[in-house]
Amino acid sequence: MGRVLTRSESDFTLQDNEFELTEKDFKFIQWFLHKTVGIYLSDRKRAMVYGRLSRQMRQRGLQRFADYRMLIETDEQERILFINSLTTNKTEFFREYHHFEFLEKVMLNEWQTNKRDSINIWSAGCSTGQEPYSLISSLYVSGAMEMFDEVSIRATDLDTKVLAHAKAGIYSADSVESIPSKYLKPCFVKGKQQQEGKIKIAKGLQKYVHFSRLNLLDSWPTKPKFDLISCRNVMIYFDKPTQEALLKRFHQALKPNGILFIGHSESVGACSELFHHLGQTIYVKQ
Ligand SMILES: C[S@@+](CC[C@H](N)C(=O)[O-])C[C@H]1O[C@@H](n2cnc3c(N)ncnc32)[C@H](O)[C@@H]1O
Repeated sequence: MGRVLTRSESDFTLQDNEFELTEKDFKFIQWFLHKTVGIYLSDRKRAMVYGRLSRQMRQRGLQRFADYRMLIETDEQERILFINSLTTNKTEFFREYHHFEFLEKVMLNEWQTNKRDSINIWSAGCSTGQEPYSLISSLYVSGAMEMFDEVSIRATDLDTKVLAHAKAGIYSADSVESIPSKYLKPCFVKGKQQQEGKIKIAKGLQKYVHFSRLNLLDSWPTKPKFDLISCRNVMIYFDKPTQEALLKRFHQALKPNGILFIGHSESVGACSELFHHLGQTIYVKQ
């Protein structure tokens, strides 16, 4: 039996646990996750780490975190499952609705005025797909498919589990609550029989969204360049140097006057000379 901190650093109790998560184990996990995917786990995440990784260890019949550490260092598939178990995937349809209003009321006009024939959007850190499907619904309802020859959304995430959900495009009944009615009927279909009570993104819209696994810390394809990058509620898990490096790469990946959406608690920080703030976490490439 091991012992582990079960609450925040400042308010912890020790209790008996199945496995022993030593200080060395925890520091390794912090370092390894940060090095591979940029996610910074504070010391207060110790109980969360224990809970999620002990499940992995139990499934593999491992007794010691030292053995689990060796496994994730040497086995690519295990490393993917380790990362999946430590990501935070909270999302919802039309989250931070002002971004969709801006897309519909400002960007579509702008792109039309500039006689764009194709529109490329990147949802970076798309989780289970609600963000790219909200973007494509917003474009569809506003008539973007008639305005441009080509509309394409690239949707990427690190986590293979959420990507599988995103590709299927099927969501529980309660997710309907965050979908404004003007998008619900034209863009989603109701599930029947086994899928009763669920909703699915319409097939005709799903084809515009292309999902793939991408670690934002790895190299990216250099083309296409994007008219809009939506990277919302992802950088919040990174430390400042990782955020800064990522913002510089987003800047390069955007077309001239390209737009960047970030999450409500994020900012462009040290890269403010690269982006002009248009308000409400919306930035334009300088
Ligand atoms: C909280 S969700 C945000 C989802 C959506 N963008 C939104 O705002 O609703 C954060 C997502 O970022 C992904 N993520 C974290 N680190 C990443 C990395 N290094 N590369 C790619 N995706 C990453 C996670 O797997 C997770 O699905």
